[in-house]
Amino acid sequence: MAKLIAMAGKGGTGKTTFAAMIIRGLIESGQAPVLAVDADPNATLSEALGLEAPKTIGMVREEFGAASGTLPAGMTKGQFFEYKLNEIIVEDEGMDLLVMGRPEGAGCYCYVNNLLRGAVETLSENYKYVVVDNEAGLEHLSRRTAAHVDLMVIMSDHSVRGIRSAHRVIGLVEEMGIEVLQQLVLVNQIVGEGSLTDPEKGLNEAVLAEAKKLGIDIFTVVPMDSDVTAADLAQKSLLDLQASSPAAVAAQKVLNFLNTAT
Ligand SMILES: Nc1ncnc2c1ncn2[C@@H]1O[C@H](COP(=O)(O)OP(=O)(O)OP(=O)(O)O)[C@@H](O)[C@H]1O
Ligand SMILES: [Mg+2]
Repeated sequence: MAKLIAMAGKGGTGKTTFAAMIIRGLIESGQAPVLAVDADPNATLSEALGLEAPKTIGMVREEFGAASGTLPAGMTKGQFFEYKLNEIIVEDEGMDLLVMGRPEGAGCYCYVNNLLRGAVETLSENYKYVVVDNEAGLEHLSRRTAAHVDLMVIMSDHSVRGIRSAHRVIGLVEEMGIEVLQQLVLVNQIVGEGSLTDPEKGLNEAVLAEAKKLGIDIFTVVPMDSDVTAADLAQKSLLDLQASSPAAVAAQKVLNFLNTAT
């Protein structure tokens, strides 16, 4: 069964960037194929991966609705959605990308959503890893897009509010009863002598004190990475970053943990 890695954290903390770095690390270490799922309605993971995704799951849902659920002859609903997912999936070396798109509008789409979830689960069986980039906030968690997560990566910026936000995510995950095998809190965009081996180095004292107060262990910092900035400005794929890039090193640290812990 594919291992599911999900990103969470407040807005702009680096969820999409780090999801791309994790995917990069998985491909580089021969742990492909990977299914990248962009679950943010404001889809940006495709850009970070240097891919274009013309069609989304949202569009498939709309199409199905517009045709009043009429199916091609001889096809079950489950088969129809599996067929449609294969049609919209973007294929790349070592990785495929699926974009969720906009959430449903008014009306109840629960039935279609359940069918879609089933189709995504069936599709996931073809991969070693599924990496889900989520939108900011906690909405998606309460909508329970993922019932079982092998590793939840909670991103925080280098601020007290970022840590509090990470704490709220942890609380909600527990409250919702989402089965999370492992969860790691990362503080991103550390400037200066932030050490990848000792997260306490380089972290602001107030941030550390808040983390301690809330019982949060910071797994690692992710340094401010000029290669990430350069790729972003040049609109290049983060998959092409060197393994020695600070953000890539941090992602490798997370993957090493995952491989030994699960
Ligand atoms: N370690 C890093 N070094 C340099 N730049 C970074 C780093 N992490 C993220 N960034 C930059 O910070 C910005 C926000 O990152 P990103 O889009 O990944 O955050 P996000 O949490 O996905 O945001 P949103 O909540 O809007 O989805 C981007 O411009 C990205 O290039
Ligand atoms: Mg994002």
